[in-house]
Amino acid sequence: MNPKLENADNEAVIAALKRAEKMRIDFVANVSHELRTPLTSIKGYTETLIEDLELGRPPDPEFLKIILKNSNRLLSLINDLLDLSAIESGADHLQPTLIDLKEFSGTVLDALKQSARMKETEITLEVKTPQLIADPKRTEQVMVNLVENAIKYCPVGSRIHICWEEKSSDGGTEILLRVSDNGPGIPEKHLDRLFERFYRIDKGRSRDMGGTGLGLSIVKHILQRHHGSIEVESALGKGTTFICRFPNPRTLAKN
Ligand SMILES: Nc1ncnc2c1ncn2[C@@H]1O[C@H](COP(=O)(O)OP(=O)(O)O)[C@@H](O)[C@H]1O
Ligand SMILES: [Mg+2]
Repeated sequence: MNPKLENADNEAVIAALKRAEKMRIDFVANVSHELRTPLTSIKGYTETLIEDLELGRPPDPEFLKIILKNSNRLLSLINDLLDLSAIESGADHLQPTLIDLKEFSGTVLDALKQSARMKETEITLEVKTPQLIADPKRTEQVMVNLVENAIKYCPVGSRIHICWEEKSSDGGTEILLRVSDNGPGIPEKHLDRLFERFYRIDKGRSRDMGGTGLGLSIVKHILQRHHGSIEVESALGKGTTFICRFPNPRTLAKN
């Protein structure tokens, strides 16, 4: 082999290894930080409660509520981390199943009705293709994450449209899931990093709403496991559309 080409190959491998190592270090630092914030709050309020009890003062129920809220945050974070690791490593085996999209989407949306009603959000569903072969539990997770985000990050009275359709592509056909909202939109500078773990546009706001910052990265990995992909289109003041591509069912059946 040409020594120049061999050198270039080695350099590319070393650069990729360095990138992977940096990502691992950043991830450990991010996880530690995300865990420390709620734990510090739980510790502080528990200490105050103990002090109050020792001094014969009645415990403040508000403190107990804060402790519960932060415990729930820790639990969601750990559940999302475990989920992400199972999806990424392939430890959970996908169960490709023939899904009736009308019935399936109806059931998934029923579970989100309550939170949509609370924000007076109107959700419409359009099913232009009848079926999909995919893992039902993971496909549900994709829909729930995207629709929950749209409900959370759009103002009261917004509209969300969900559409399933089939598209022809070079490699055959794909099934597309579009989740569109008419919310505030996402500034362009964030779009590239949106699917990274813990990436949030407004950290405080996401945390207040119980977000872990892992939802979109879980969605991305679920699609990758299905040999599909996800992309986002957004216009400030107009809204956001997430487009999930599930590959030709025959492609998935071979994997
Ligand atoms: N439909 C949407 N409209 C506006 N911003 C969104 C939308 N969906 C996601 N986002 C932004 O992307 C960020 C990452 O989303 P996600 O990974 O689900 O994390 P989380 O919801 O836990 O904060 C959110 O914090 C939010 O800022
Ligand atoms: Mg989310």
